[in-house]
Amino acid sequence: MEVIITREDQIGELVAEEIAALIARKPNAVLGLATGSSPLRIYDAVAARVASGEFSLAHASAFTLDEYVGLPDGHPCGYRTVIEEDFVSRVDLPTEAVQGPDGGSSDLDGACASYEEAIRKAGGVDLQILGIGTDGHIAFNEPGSSFASRTRPKTLTAQTRRDNARFFDGNIDAVPVHCLTQGLGTIMEARHVVLVATGEGKAEAVKHLVEGAVSAFWPGTILQHHPHVTVFVDDAAASKL
Ligand code: GLP
Repeated sequence: MEVIITREDQIGELVAEEIAALIARKPNAVLGLATGSSPLRIYDAVAARVASGEFSLAHASAFTLDEYVGLPDGHPCGYRTVIEEDFVSRVDLPTEAVQGPDGGSSDLDGACASYEEAIRKAGGVDLQILGIGTDGHIAFNEPGSSFASRTRPKTLTAQTRRDNARFFDGNIDAVPVHCLTQGLGTIMEARHVVLVATGEGKAEAVKHLVEGAVSAFWPGTILQHHPHVTVFVDDAAASKL
């Protein structure tokens, strides 16, 4: 695990460099996209570079990590809508080349199995962007998630629902209780994982991620066993290292 401590405004550019290098050697690369505030600077930097003609995502494809269960199609907080607005609509990545788990399906287990199959058929994820929750979750793999887990339905913890209430006008009751999420085993198959964490609120999770014992109670710690992980943190998120 490589840990890079740098200014928050540098992180987006550094990750955009990684993506540019990947596209240069593999124009049809498969990206793994994360929602949340952590990757926004990355998406800004990539959008600027694509707009300037430095590289193109026209032949790339992407998979998102997770989705709430039960939000109506097109709900502004649905991760499909969020990733479309935050990233896909700003670059030349074709909308139909971006897939996410279907949290509106009447057969959630079937939707999870099809999603795993789609990732497999695409040849797996080349570069997975990740944030981390204050409780150490990655995607929506909450504490206690199995390291071998695949895409599946999960129940969100009270902490995550509190953290994410800010996207639902501060109303925790509006935050769904369930989600579909790629498993830790799914995420571990990405060829390169880039995790971004900024701000003091992430310092405890980053301490466990980088220096803690590998434990299902801090799900991100499984990444210590991944052969190619780059962690980008600012001073505040690195303050407990
Ligand atoms: C959410 C998402 C994760 C994200 C994390 C951190 O619950 N499911 O994919 O990484 O929480 O979010 P943020 O970057 O907004 O702090």
